[in-house]
Amino acid sequence: MNIAVIGTGYVGLVQGVIMADFNHNVTCVDIDIDKIKSLQRGEVPIYEPGLEELLKKNILRKKISFTSNIKSAIKNSEIIFIAVGTPPAMDGSADLQYVLNVAREIGKNIENYKVIVNKSTVPIGTGKLVKDTIEHELKKRNSPVEFNIVSNPEFLREGKAVEDCLNPDRVVIGYNSIKALNIMKELYTKLEEKNIPFVFTNIETSEMIKYASNAFLAVKISFINEISLLAEKVGANTDDISLAMGMDNRISPKFLKCGPGYGGSCFPKDTKALVKIGDNVGEEMSVVKAAIYANEKQKFKIVEKIKKEMNGLNGKTIGILGLSFKPDTDDVRDAPSIDIIKHLINNGAKINAYCPKGMKEAKWRLRNFNNKILYCENEYEVSNKADSIVLITEWSQFENLDLNKIKKNMRDNFYFDLRNIHNKNTEIKKTFKYFPFGKKNHPIIS
Ligand code: UGA
Repeated sequence: MNIAVIGTGYVGLVQGVIMADFNHNVTCVDIDIDKIKSLQRGEVPIYEPGLEELLKKNILRKKISFTSNIKSAIKNSEIIFIAVGTPPAMDGSADLQYVLNVAREIGKNIENYKVIVNKSTVPIGTGKLVKDTIEHELKKRNSPVEFNIVSNPEFLREGKAVEDCLNPDRVVIGYNSIKALNIMKELYTKLEEKNIPFVFTNIETSEMIKYASNAFLAVKISFINEISLLAEKVGANTDDISLAMGMDNRISPKFLKCGPGYGGSCFPKDTKALVKIGDNVGEEMSVVKAAIYANEKQKFKIVEKIKKEMNGLNGKTIGILGLSFKPDTDDVRDAPSIDIIKHLINNGAKINAYCPKGMKEAKWRLRNFNNKILYCENEYEVSNKADSIVLITEWSQFENLDLNKIKKNMRDNFYFDLRNIHNKNTEIKKTFKYFPFGKKNHPIIS
C-alpha cells in the first residue's frame, strides 16, 4: 500500500519505518528540510535503539523515502497518517494547530479516496474536527472527494520504540466506515498474523483510550511514589511492597517502580490535557489531578531529603548521573533531572552532570542555570570534588560503576540512588553514606 506519514517526530518516524519494513511504500513528510536531508542519508536525528539500522535497510530496499513536498505525498498515497506534535498550550490543553494545518493541506490536495489516520495523541473530538476541516477545504475547491477518518493511537515507549511497534500489546482502531476499517486491517496484516490483539471501536473511544492509558500509568507511578515517601518515614521497603503488590495479577508489577517522578514528552503533557478535557465538559479529573500534584511534589521532596541529610546544600557540589527522562533515549523533555537540578542550585549547590545521551538537550533546557553546572565527559568526572552523587536515571552503564574510583575524587561521600540500581551491591554501603529510595538503608539480614 502507498502510505504518507506527515511528521517525522518519534511517532511518525518509527511508524513510517515499521510500515516500510512491513513492505508498504512509505513517504515521510516534514517541514524541517535539514531533518529530511539527514533522513534521506539514513541518519536518525534522535537516539532510538535499532531505528537507524531498520531505516537504512528500507532506504536500500526503496520502501521508504523522505520529502518536504506534502502535496505530492498526499496525492500519491491511499493512507495518510497524521503524526505531528500536539504540544501543550499555555492552559495545559493540547495545541492542535499542527494537526489542523495538515488537515487543511489534505483538504486542498486530495483528488481521490483516502483514509486519514490520526496517530498523534489528540483530545476527544479531534477526528471530527479534522473531518470538518478537510470538508471545509473541499467545499472551497468545490470538489467533493470521498475520505474517511480513522483514529489509531500509538502506544510505543521511547527507547523501546521499534520493539513496541513490531510487537504492540494491542492495536486500537477507531472508525466510522467499513471501507476504511478494511483498509486498516489490510495495512496491519503483518500484526494480525502475529496474533496481536485488535480493538475496533468508534473514533471518540479510540482517542480516549490513549489518554486513559497514559493517565492510568501516570497514576500508578504517582501512587507508588507516594507510598515510597511514606515507607521511608515508617521504616518499610518500597521495593518489597512493589514486588508483593505486583504478584497480585490484578495489579501487575509493571510501572510500580518508585523514583524521582515520571517525565518525558507524554505523561506530563497528556495528564494535563486530560484534566483540561474534563474541565471543558464539567467533569473534574480528580484522580489524575492528584497524580500530577504528587509528581511535582516528588522532585521537591527529593531535594529536601538531600538537603536534610547533607546538612544544607550551600557551597556543596552534587554529581548528577543521568539527565534523560529514562535510559536509552536522549530525550530530556520534562525529565525529573531538570527540576531536581534547578531546586539543588536554588538551594546553593553547584552541579557536575553526566548523561550518556542527554547532555546536549539538557544544556539547552538548563541554559539559565549553566553558570552553576559543569557538564562532564564521563560518569567518573562527576565525582570530582563532589560532596554527593545523585543517580537520577538508571542507565545500565551506571550499574557497575567502579565505586572506589568514584569515591577517590570526592570531598564527602553521600550517594543518593533515586532508582535503587545499586540495591544488591553490598560494597556501596561500605564505601558511601548510601541512601536508597523508598526505604531505609537496612542492614542485610542473613
Ligand atoms: C509513554 C507510554 O508508556 C507509551 O505507551 C506511550 O505510547 C507514550 O508515553 C506516548 O504517549 O507516546 P514514554 O513516555 O516513552 O512512553 O516512557 P515510559 O517508559 O512510559 O516512562 C515514562 C516515565 O515514567 C519515565 O520518566 C519513567 O522513568 C517513569 N516510570 C516508569 C517510573 O517512574 N516508574 C515506573 O515503574 C515506570
